[in-house]
Amino acid sequence: MASDALGRDTASLVKRFHAARGSDELVVLQGVHALKHALRFGASVEVVACEDPSELTQLVQALAPDLIERIEALAVVLPAEAFKRLGPYVPHTGVVSIARRVATDPLALIACASRAPIVLLEDPRHFGNLGAVVRVAAAVEAAGVLTTGRQDPWDPVAVRGSAGLHFALPVARVESLPDTDRPLLAFDPEGEELRPEHVPPRALLAFGTERDGLSDGLLERADARLRLPMREGVSSLNLATSVAAVLYSLRFARVAHAG
Ligand SMILES: C[S@@+](CC[C@H](N)C(=O)[O-])C[C@H]1O[C@@H](n2cnc3c(N)ncnc32)[C@H](O)[C@@H]1O
Repeated sequence: MASDALGRDTASLVKRFHAARGSDELVVLQGVHALKHALRFGASVEVVACEDPSELTQLVQALAPDLIERIEALAVVLPAEAFKRLGPYVPHTGVVSIARRVATDPLALIACASRAPIVLLEDPRHFGNLGAVVRVAAAVEAAGVLTTGRQDPWDPVAVRGSAGLHFALPVARVESLPDTDRPLLAFDPEGEELRPEHVPPRALLAFGTERDGLSDGLLERADARLRLPMREGVSSLNLATSVAAVLYSLRFARVAHAG
């Protein structure tokens, strides 16, 4: 362990976590899975706070033995009382870290040459959905995830939902969808049934907000409006479930550009 944090050091570490939560350059990683993926995919992790160093070692040995030395070198031990003050929610595993966010230029992402699809979430509201989308997009090697709307896609709750896989692909928010030569496919329960083999390379796969679906503006711009088939009487799927079903259907159909 790097050091025991006591007294003034403890107070300044608590302050550092509070500042990280309000920063758009840093992100608080909750738990060991998020920390593990962040490190595996190249994150710059600044500090790992833990309550019990022997529990940390046991957890890392079980979940990420490849990272044990790196994590131990970053670890700082906090008394239980101080650990609880690190934020509104602290994981029961007693491990919480600070990492530097990866800045992504959304325009450069859209313009990039990758043939893999980009997932576009129009105004997603729930951080759990957002995180689950990033996680599945990382798993199938999508080119990136873009969001519109007010939610910060790098919110700690979303990064917890992705298990830290925000570091595995570009994730960014864009004010509105810029002009692009990428084919724009709108996923909507009222569309035509999806045929994965007809999804072109470099597609932007657009999904709507949880309550109201895609905006009229996006539907008008779309090159196609596609649906996942559902049993009669079912009105729609959950947002993250829809993204997962579409990405894996492209994968199973062996669409060459789909990761
Ligand atoms: C919870 S749904 C929104 C429900 C909304 N009432 C609607 O009718 O679109 C969130 C998003 O998931 C996607 N989605 C849900 N079910 C779908 C389906 N069967 N086919 C294609 N996309 C779907 C769409 O992108 C939708 O905007």
